[in-house]
Amino acid sequence: MQISLIYDQKYKNRQIRLPLKHQNNEDDLNMNPLKIIESFPHDFIFGTATSSYQIEGSSFGGCGRSHWDSFAQKPNATYKGQNGNIACNHIQYWEKDLDLVADAGFKAYRFSFSWPRLFIDGKTTRNNNGFSFYDRLIDGMLAREILPFSTLYHWDLPQNLADKGGWTNRDTCKWFADYTEAIMQRFGDRLHSVATINEPWCVSWLSHYLGHHAPGLRNLEAAVRSMHYILVAHSNATEVMRSYNQKNLGIVLNKEHMMPASNTDEDVEACKLSDEIYNLWFDEAIFKGQYPKKTLKLFHQYMPENFEIDLPQINRKIDWIGINYYTRSIIKADQYEPNTKFITVAGDLPKTDMGWEIFPAGLTKILTRQVESYSKTISIHITENGMASHDVLVNGSKVINDQDRIKYYQLHLEELKTLIDNKIPIKSYFAWSLLDNFEWAFGYNKTFGLVSVNYDTQIRTPKNSYYAFQRALKFL
Ligand code: FCB
Repeated sequence: MQISLIYDQKYKNRQIRLPLKHQNNEDDLNMNPLKIIESFPHDFIFGTATSSYQIEGSSFGGCGRSHWDSFAQKPNATYKGQNGNIACNHIQYWEKDLDLVADAGFKAYRFSFSWPRLFIDGKTTRNNNGFSFYDRLIDGMLAREILPFSTLYHWDLPQNLADKGGWTNRDTCKWFADYTEAIMQRFGDRLHSVATINEPWCVSWLSHYLGHHAPGLRNLEAAVRSMHYILVAHSNATEVMRSYNQKNLGIVLNKEHMMPASNTDEDVEACKLSDEIYNLWFDEAIFKGQYPKKTLKLFHQYMPENFEIDLPQINRKIDWIGINYYTRSIIKADQYEPNTKFITVAGDLPKTDMGWEIFPAGLTKILTRQVESYSKTISIHITENGMASHDVLVNGSKVINDQDRIKYYQLHLEELKTLIDNKIPIKSYFAWSLLDNFEWAFGYNKTFGLVSVNYDTQIRTPKNSYYAFQRALKFL
């Protein structure tokens, strides 16, 4: 059976075909479904990614409370009220997890530091346990010849700072600089690369305007302030790291290709605004020292006083840009949306278990614009890409034949290969994620891992997607 038929069966009511480039038969694919990997340049880095709150287990090792611990306690904030207390207990199983990274043949591991694990109150109360955990983790990577790609902030803000206004309070940017300095002093010489912030749009808009993530606000003023302060935090951290001579610094942006729901003027204009808020706000500031006009007009009354003064600093040089890509968005004008006057509507392409449309071509569109309009010559890292699918464990729970996920990876890697052939400076690719984990508001109900986790026993079971990477990576 061909893989395209699997899609056709699953989505037959939609009568849509995935844009398959190669009609391989199943035998070919079983031999080496991610064979495309072998044709990537020799110095291209394949890795896999996780983040602290999603895997570590926030109840272990003296970790302080984060705003995600609090958010998860609010009614209906997360699936079945689930939280990251235990998660994958990576604090205990980190060696096993690094072995999985190494055994797959990945040369890099993207992880994040947990701010409340290092500083319980986010400021001065050090947790030495936390510092020694990351010592072991980083040394464990180096011992396995895995490059540590670190992120300073992947969303677990210390609750003590959240109590003081979190990302709507400019002081948080200063405390973030202090936290960055502590990381530089202890770990800087062992980090291959450092990203300041993971997905500033999620930190600000998704969490303060749409209310889906901690702290769960639905408030335009709070959102606008956080949209600016998260960039000030990025800039502060970059300045600190430069003063420590830290090399290889960047930021990770999430990108979706935006398309209007129709050709009407209303939808086209709505789509432009959505594109600015989601994609361009951060690029314009980081690479051009300005904010996009339509959005600034909407935000103006709530922008912090003298925000312009920060823009030249936000525009300071970075060494690479990280792109997380999963899907596209379809935007429709909606007069009942109180501020932005647009909403996102469902499209008709095949979807992942998150309900996200599978649209590999969006990666090409996003990256082409990234290079032409913004990041120009600096390196691009694809810091996340992957798919949630409903995994079925068979054969005594030992086999997970996640062919849809393998296909998703294959289609996105094909796009990347063509871009690299066209001289787009993409240097690495990270599969999201190494492990099934706490998928934020979706709890443990959505699974992105290359490796399945049984949360009762903490037994890890590699899926066929893991083996597909392993088979391809061994030829590099
Ligand atoms: C990204 C996040 C990551 C994970 C994936 C599915 O937005 O960075 O933590 O939740 O989505």
